[in-house]
Amino acid sequence: MPSRRRVLSGIQPTGAGKHLGNYLGAVRHWAAMQDDFECLFFIADLHSLTITPDPTELRAQTRKLIAELLAMGVDPSKSALFAQSHIPEHPELAWVLSCLTGFGEASRMTQFKEKGGGNVGLFNYPVLQAADILLYQSHMVPVGEDQRQHLELTRDLGQRFNSRYGDTFTVPDPYVQKSAERIKDLADPTAKMSTSKGGPGVLWVIEDDKATTKKIKSAVTDTGREVEYDVAAKPGISNLMTIHAIATATSVEQVQDDFAGKMYGDFKGAVADAVVEMFAPVRKRYAELIADPGYLDSVLREGAATARPIAAATMVDVRDRIGLLAPA
Ligand code: TYM
Repeated sequence: MPSRRRVLSGIQPTGAGKHLGNYLGAVRHWAAMQDDFECLFFIADLHSLTITPDPTELRAQTRKLIAELLAMGVDPSKSALFAQSHIPEHPELAWVLSCLTGFGEASRMTQFKEKGGGNVGLFNYPVLQAADILLYQSHMVPVGEDQRQHLELTRDLGQRFNSRYGDTFTVPDPYVQKSAERIKDLADPTAKMSTSKGGPGVLWVIEDDKATTKKIKSAVTDTGREVEYDVAAKPGISNLMTIHAIATATSVEQVQDDFAGKMYGDFKGAVADAVVEMFAPVRKRYAELIADPGYLDSVLREGAATARPIAAATMVDVRDRIGLLAPA
């Protein structure tokens, strides 16, 4: 068991890049936790295979994601950053856990239901995610609100294994921070901002400042004129208020006070400026990092060197407990 509390989280490489929701809901929390905890962050490239990406694109997107994560504040001198596929214990533990998962239990996972079926990899997706987490004896898993159900399954599987075979896994606390907001699509504020949706409502962390400003100024807002926080009646304005509050490190209440009596147009201009300012250092750093693929690869190499022994030790224990013979 680690002496400092251990944090683990993952993010998928597929898609045009990471968006504002990934940053506000997850990665900025990762960056903030690095000084206080032992942190392991990984690129969930095996999970991305569920959409059978083009191989050349997957490689490029993975490098892009390393650069994005470093630019957003993941610091390889404090945290291990690695690729899931570099640690073969992930799919190995996923197999073991899949044999403890009920068919009905896996069928009830919303992500699988929402996609209307698909391949067996997609069906098994949450079990691989549980393996990612349990393998490292993690205490905390900082994720956005949309991952809550996957964390619940992880806890169930960890507890099930422990009660059947004896204490083996740390069962992580449900850890969706209050501030891990569900950031909504700017053009469709009742849906979450998501990579797969794309389009004018998704704000990429790495894009032109002008594109960011345009998307925010064109964000769908609600009838009425008041800048008021009311998710049910004013989903568009409430989403922009959340974004503004985080970007300027204040509260939605404060935003509401500051913009009382102001027009939607003025408010959107202020949100755009705040987001462009928040991302300015990230965008600058990204441009430097992406130009150095050798360095990006070295970060993953070192990350795997830290992560692999932890994963390997857990698997030695797991194999023994379930009755597999150790190789002679
Ligand atoms: P992924 O790659 O879809 O998203 C990465 C992180 O971003 C958060 N997020 C959001 N937060 C707020 N608002 C949004 N609109 C929004 N969209 C995404 C997600 O909650 C997540 O924290 N299954 C995971 C990857 C994964 C993982 C793991 C995470 C695989 N194994 C083990 C933690 C631990 C996923 O697809 O995240």
